[in-house]
Amino acid sequence: MKIVVKTLEGLEDVLVKELEALQLSNIQILNRAVSCEGNWAQLYKCNYCLRSAMRVLVPIKHDVLHSQEDLYTIGRSIDWSEYIPEKRTFAISGTVSGDLFPHSRFPVFRLKDAIVDQLSDEKGYRPNVDPKKPDVAIDLHINPDNEINISLDSSGKSLHLRNYKYRQYKAPLNEVLAAGIILLSGYDGSQVFQDGMCGSGTLITEALMISANIPAGKFIHRFAFQNWSNYNSEIWNTVKEIADEGIRHPQAELIGSDLNAFAVRDVKKNLQDFPFKERVSLYQRDFFKTNGHPDRLLIMNPPYDKRIETDNVDDFYRQIGDALKTFWQGSTAWIVTSNLDAMKSFGLRPSKRISLHNGGLESKLFKFDLYEGSKKSKHNND
Ligand SMILES: C[S@@+](CC[C@H](N)C(=O)[O-])C[C@H]1O[C@@H](n2cnc3c(N)ncnc32)[C@H](O)[C@@H]1O
Repeated sequence: MKIVVKTLEGLEDVLVKELEALQLSNIQILNRAVSCEGNWAQLYKCNYCLRSAMRVLVPIKHDVLHSQEDLYTIGRSIDWSEYIPEKRTFAISGTVSGDLFPHSRFPVFRLKDAIVDQLSDEKGYRPNVDPKKPDVAIDLHINPDNEINISLDSSGKSLHLRNYKYRQYKAPLNEVLAAGIILLSGYDGSQVFQDGMCGSGTLITEALMISANIPAGKFIHRFAFQNWSNYNSEIWNTVKEIADEGIRHPQAELIGSDLNAFAVRDVKKNLQDFPFKERVSLYQRDFFKTNGHPDRLLIMNPPYDKRIETDNVDDFYRQIGDALKTFWQGSTAWIVTSNLDAMKSFGLRPSKRISLHNGGLESKLFKFDLYEGSKKSKHNND
């Protein structure tokens, strides 16, 4: 079966590695997505285990549109009773480019008409649309060349909604982006992980999940494939059991801190159901007064003056750069930010730059190898 896994811009290579680890075959990079082939167990596993996946789709129709009306004809040519049995609801989400449709809502409505007309004319029942909690979620994609892909969405809700965030402090990272950044850094749980501006702790939480090998979907109650008529609960239970057996004690500590006490309280709340949460140490602390250490993996997402205002953002970024080069020699630091101008004041040369997208904002991830030099840490508190 063909499977298309959607991800965020910049995470395609990370997703390929994850799919290889799950032994999917015929893996090919697309635009913000990766296609592959696998069986039912692998489809379920993709939903449960992939950290860099936003949605897992099963394509059912590919064609080329020459006119607006082709969409209705193609939609009607599918036997929808296979996917939407009587009394089941459905919803369509659409990503539409190309020159045929000026408004993206219109093709979604036309496909809905095609589905309802096909089922009522040929099968004698009219399914209802439920945009909030559909039994069957359908994905419509029309690319700039007017190629149309209609897929079943096996995930339902976007997989970044991991269902562990009880609280969100200001400007939280998308969970998939946070996990992708950590995987891009090469973190395998063997190093002490630290985030000195942790907010409500997305990076810390995803790092704990990686180091303890906790499946990304551990706290998700239900995936859309569980509503499908061919859903096999035995396969699903086996997939879950095997993945859960892989959960392990994290090798190294994880440390999160933030200037704001509410943020630290939020991280504690978000970690409440996690196994091994005691491996995470949390502090309310100013990063600029935090002790530096060699051999740590530091990943931080400082304020970038858009969703959190900062008095003098250039000066703030200069101070972070100074703190890293003065106190964190021997460690590796990764900074993710959408303020690329402020990064010009950082004063350190990155060894890597990776373009990413953060909630509609153009972002970059920078790697800094902080080679050991003569300067020693002056603060001493952990
Ligand atoms: C963009 S938010 C981090 C969001 C976080 N990555 C998440 O996903 O929830 C930046 C954080 O930096 C914190 N911060 C700002 N100045 C700080 C400082 N001097 N020391 C420590 N934390 C600071 C803010 O309180 C805020 O929580």
